[in-house]
Parts: sequence; structure tokens; C-alpha cells
Amino acid sequence: MNILVTGGAGFIGSHVCVELLTLGYCVIVLDNLSNSNINSLHNVAKIVNINLNFNLDKHNKFTFFESDITKIEHIEKVFSSQKIDAVIHLAGLKSVKESVENPDQYYVNNVNGSINLFNTMRRFNCKSIIFSSSATVYGEAETVPINENAKIIPNNPYGENKAAIERELKILYNLDKKWRIAILRFFNPIGAHKSGLIGESPVDIPNNLMPYILKVASGDLESLSIFGGDYDTHDGTGVRDYIHVMDLASGHIKALTTLLKKPELLIVNLGTGIGYSVLDVLKSFEKVSKQKVIFNILGRRAGDVATSYSDPTFAKDALNWSAKYNLEEMCHDSWNFILKNNSNND
Ligand code: WQD
Repeated sequence: MNILVTGGAGFIGSHVCVELLTLGYCVIVLDNLSNSNINSLHNVAKIVNINLNFNLDKHNKFTFFESDITKIEHIEKVFSSQKIDAVIHLAGLKSVKESVENPDQYYVNNVNGSINLFNTMRRFNCKSIIFSSSATVYGEAETVPINENAKIIPNNPYGENKAAIERELKILYNLDKKWRIAILRFFNPIGAHKSGLIGESPVDIPNNLMPYILKVASGDLESLSIFGGDYDTHDGTGVRDYIHVMDLASGHIKALTTLLKKPELLIVNLGTGIGYSVLDVLKSFEKVSKQKVIFNILGRRAGDVATSYSDPTFAKDALNWSAKYNLEEMCHDSWNFILKNNSNND
């Protein structure tokens, strides 16, 4: 089976590609490399011991096509060159901070780009898609843990984009019940493949917590600013549901195999169901890495919520999936990726 992975060179995408290739799926990656690097795909190829190809006109196990979802002709080229059995749609801009600064660019790239994809899928009669949504669609949830019936009240343009794309998918399904759609709402992905060959390497100064901690621990940045020490949480710092990227990847595989059984529209939270504060993550990271991370506690960051973590019950029922990795393993694997890549760069 041929699976198109949009954004397949990215942090989540590269880990999903490893899982797909390991299971024998053929993978075509569509990525514009705006926030990722082709080396990720070379490392995916190394992990699974398969060659990375660049020629769409040949049927290969693993093919990369540098392309952009905002250019419909790029998407059409993929579908007219290869029979695509299902799509895993991960391509998109994903910084909350940037989305506040450039809401129009985010809408054009994320929403219009996704509509390009869905229209092309329909034209080529490909009706199976897994969409990477985000817990950000829940905004300031009224209650925690958050289940899939919680209100969709995003409080930033990035979350609005995800909600808009979800609406498009619901419309597609209501118009044609032959579609097989899984909307996966990620909580906070961290960690890296155990080989240390792929992981999260943001292009600029990181917005997210773990990549920032890694930059401080490896000496690239001086200290961590903790945004808010006065939240109504056990230690005053923000609480989130951190999930290992390998757990996230296995959740995508479970969604794919579930969808192949019958047409349906599934909306599933992918989280561990456990909330950890910023200070919890810091302490766990320092314990496993034996690195001291200097920090100072500043004011709250605009758009942040105090507490967000998932109710993983439906994921278990619908996909027979639950997260396996704990926080120390997530911190260990994140740090291992840095150590392996710093040694490669030395
Ligand atoms: C986590 C906690 C911060 C950085 C984001 C976005 C989106 C989504 C998940 C894909 C919060 C605190 C952070 C720092 C800090 N990804 N923090 N200092 O905002 O929960 O969600 O990631 O969908 O990108 O929604 O993640 O890692 O930015 O913040 O104190 O330098 O760490 O205040 O409490 P967030 P985050």
C-alpha cells in the first residue's frame, strides 16, 4: 500500500515514516522543508535500511518529492504519478507565537493548503486520511482531563486553523460517507527515536519547552525562562500532557489500520492522560541527563492555559492504543538525540 505523508520530513512525520516503512508500507513524502531538513529522511532511510528515492515516476518503497501543499499542481503531480491508498496529513506551520504574528500566512498555508489536498484526493478517488490536529483546538478547556466532546474554543490563530481544517473534513464526510477520516488531536509531543538519528530540531529559537531545555542543556542558550509561576497548579507552573513522539507515531499506525476496516469519521485525543508541570519536566530532564538547567521564572505567556491534559479513554476504545513511554524515557530520548547529533557535528 502507498501512503502519502505530507510534512514527512518533520519531527512527527519522520517518526511516522519509520513506523510505516518498518511495517512494509510504501511511503511518499511531500514536504517543502520550511521547518525540516532532508537529512531527517536520509536518517529515516538509515534506520529502516531502505534507499530514499527522488523519482515520483518510479514505484519505490520510499520517495521524497520536495513540494508545497499551497501549490495544487505539486499535489496533483504526486497523485497522477502514484496510486495513493491513504494520506497522513502532517504538513503545516505549527508555532502558536508565529500564528499570532502572521495569521494570514498561517491561514493560507494551513487551511488553504489542506483544502488543496482534500480536493485533489477527491479528484483521484482517494478517501482515506489521517489528519494531525492539536489539543490547541480546546483552548482554555472548562474541565480536565479533556475528552473529545470538550468544546472547540481555540484561543489563537494556529488553533483556529486546526479547527477550520477539522470542519472541512467533517463536511467531506457528511457529503460522502465513503470517506475514512481520523482526526488526531495531539497533546505535547517530545522525545525522539531510540537511535538518536531523528528528533526535534527546530530551525530557529524554539518556542516549545523541551527543545528550549535541550538548547540550554547543550550550552546553545543561557537559561530557560519559565512563563508563569503563579498558575493554579501544584507548583505554580503550567501543566501539560507530554507524549513520546514514538507513541504518537504508533497512534497514527493504529488509526490507519482502523480506518482500513470501514468508512468512518473518528476524532481521537493522543495523550498520556498525565499532566506534568514545567518544573516536573525540568527535574526529570536534569535527573536523566545529569545536566543542570539554569532557569528564571517570568510572567505568563500570552495564549497559555494553566492546565491541559487528555482523557485517553476513547483512544483505547476506538484505536486499541495507549501511550507506553513515561516522562523519564521522553527526557532520556530527547537528550540522546542531542548527544548523538552534537557528536556527529564534532
Ligand atoms: C509547554 C509549557 C509554557 C517554553 C504547543 C502549541 C503547539 C502544539 C503543542 C502542535 C507551557 C511552558 C514553554 C518556554 C516555558 N504543537 N514554556 N518556557 O504551548 O502547551 O503547546 O505545543 O500542535 O505547538 O500548542 O507547548 O512547549 O510551548 O509550552 O515555560 O521557553 O511550557 O508556558 O506551560 P504548548 P509549549
